Amino acid sequence: MKVVIQDDSPAVARYGAYIFREQLQKQPASVFGLATGSTPLSLYRELINSTRRGEISFSQVRSFNLDEYMDLAPQHPQSYRAFMDREFFNQIDIDTANTMVPPGDAANPLTACSEYENAIAAAGGIDIQLLGIGRNGHIGFNEPTSCLASRTRVKTLTRQTIDDNARFFDAGEFQPQLSITMGIGTIMEAKLVMLLATGKSKAKAIKDMVEGPVSAWCPASALQMHPSTVVIVDEEAASELSDPDFFKHIEQQNQALLARLKSRRYPS
Ligand code: PGA
Repeated sequence: MKVVIQDDSPAVARYGAYIFREQLQKQPASVFGLATGSTPLSLYRELINSTRRGEISFSQVRSFNLDEYMDLAPQHPQSYRAFMDREFFNQIDIDTANTMVPPGDAANPLTACSEYENAIAAAGGIDIQLLGIGRNGHIGFNEPTSCLASRTRVKTLTRQTIDDNARFFDAGEFQPQLSITMGIGTIMEAKLVMLLATGKSKAKAIKDMVEGPVSAWCPASALQMHPSTVVIVDEEAASELSDPDFFKHIEQQNQALLARLKSRRYPS
């Protein structure tokens, strides 16, 4: 697991956007796994601005979102489909027909889950899977005790997640208790996993993910077993790590190595 510690949240977004841009420049028809929540918003803003400047294009991209509330219609303003349209898809040159979000209003959610898995496989798998992390260590809606080999399925939300997300719903408004989420096994098949976290409230989850045992109690800890995961955090989210300086040192070494490779001075 590569852990990159940046000064603040805008720097986290810039670092993440750089990786997406490189992927798009290398492979315009990339497949992206995308996430909702507050954390990815600045990254999406960076990518929108890059698209407007003509540096990148999403015209050949296909995307699969991690999760969706069950029992919310796609047009409901708090659905993750509506979030993605509003915050990202409507502001870039992606063909919305190529943007997939699990269907929270499917007549048969169980069939919809296996169809979602099949669609990811038919697209050739996910090149970059973007993730946030819950305060309880969830990724997607894979809450603590989730099977680490799970596939896309219906998942019950914990009280903590419902409370964390209550701010988006009006008082007295129906708030879903169930979701459809990619499983941890599904996420683990992405070629690159990029997890972003900012703020003090994520510090414990980041410590558990990076240093703790691989455990269903911290679903994100499964990423310790993924061969290509980059965790990009700000100082606050990194503040409970035992040895943040080590990760900063590794990053300096990595950047120096990259510079040598780019200037072709690396001894072959
Ligand atoms: P947040 O959510 O980005 O709004 O903190 C992250 C998550 O719950 O996965």
